[in-house]
Amino acid sequence: MKNIVTARAHTNIALIKYWGKTDIALNIPTTSSLSMTLEPFYTTTSVEFTDNESDSLILNSAMEDSSRVSKFLEMMRGQYGNFPKVMIQSENHVPTAAGLASSASSFAALTAAMFGLLDLEKDDSEMSRIARRGSGSASRSIFGNFAVWNKGENHQSSFAESFYNKDIGLSMIVAEISSEKKKMSSTKGMQLAQTAPTYGAWVEKSAIQLAEMKQAILQADIEKVGLIAQDNALGMHEQNRLCLEPFDYFTSETQRVVDFTKECYKAGLLAFVTIDAGPNVKIITDHATEKILLIKLKAEFPELTFDIARAGGAYEYL
Ligand code: PMV
Repeated sequence: MKNIVTARAHTNIALIKYWGKTDIALNIPTTSSLSMTLEPFYTTTSVEFTDNESDSLILNSAMEDSSRVSKFLEMMRGQYGNFPKVMIQSENHVPTAAGLASSASSFAALTAAMFGLLDLEKDDSEMSRIARRGSGSASRSIFGNFAVWNKGENHQSSFAESFYNKDIGLSMIVAEISSEKKKMSSTKGMQLAQTAPTYGAWVEKSAIQLAEMKQAILQADIEKVGLIAQDNALGMHEQNRLCLEPFDYFTSETQRVVDFTKECYKAGLLAFVTIDAGPNVKIITDHATEKILLIKLKAEFPELTFDIARAGGAYEYL
């Protein structure tokens, strides 16, 4: 066994969202989902065994509460046999917990690092299943470019796989509206959303949209990708507003960016939005349009920070 293992995984943004669970403990989703892995946002994680009495987590050089990762490691001890306590050191190159899904890159990187430390076979499906237990969306961050997480119905059948491992010319402009930690966790948000009277219809539509999205990606049709992704994401946020205890991840600034992006599309530019469990907006466009759109966005929203992201690779060992 190696003394210290370091792995990197990139975050991913879902074009067809995961927003609801049929099994909360196992993170079995109500829908299959499809994502693009992002090159500039990633987590690098090192793991080593320690004589300490508990697992520990150092995140961006600061000691952090390790209860969530410790629970994850306990699950791995249950799966693969007991192993000593683990010291985790992680560097997050993602604005943490603001809807940029840092938990996806974090748990994918931790899974890969632990597979190395434990000398487990590097089976992508098994890594995806294990990453899923940490955070559902992490199941997709094992893969580069476009991944599909087939929802399955139990631990064994619910894992992601590579769908299309090529750059189709899609760019995402991330508008960083707030890097504050999200107020409503995704687990709680999903539970509430599932009480919306329209939730079942969103789930049904999602299955149709997934099939259409796969076609659009294979055709490298960015307009079609954007239109479907935008409808799917706005539909997800509608469930939050229509559920029994309504809540909203949008701020007024989120809405302004959404409205402005729609205006840009009407004016003839490729521009669509997708939004996760936070206020930040990811604007979908293509490589040829990204710079023109960025100039327009910066002029309209001088107070915001924007990053351009393209498709990134699978997890790797460093
Ligand atoms: O993996 P979680 O539990 O953080 O859930 C992520 C859910 C969304 O980011 C909103 C959608 C998705 O499919 O990634």
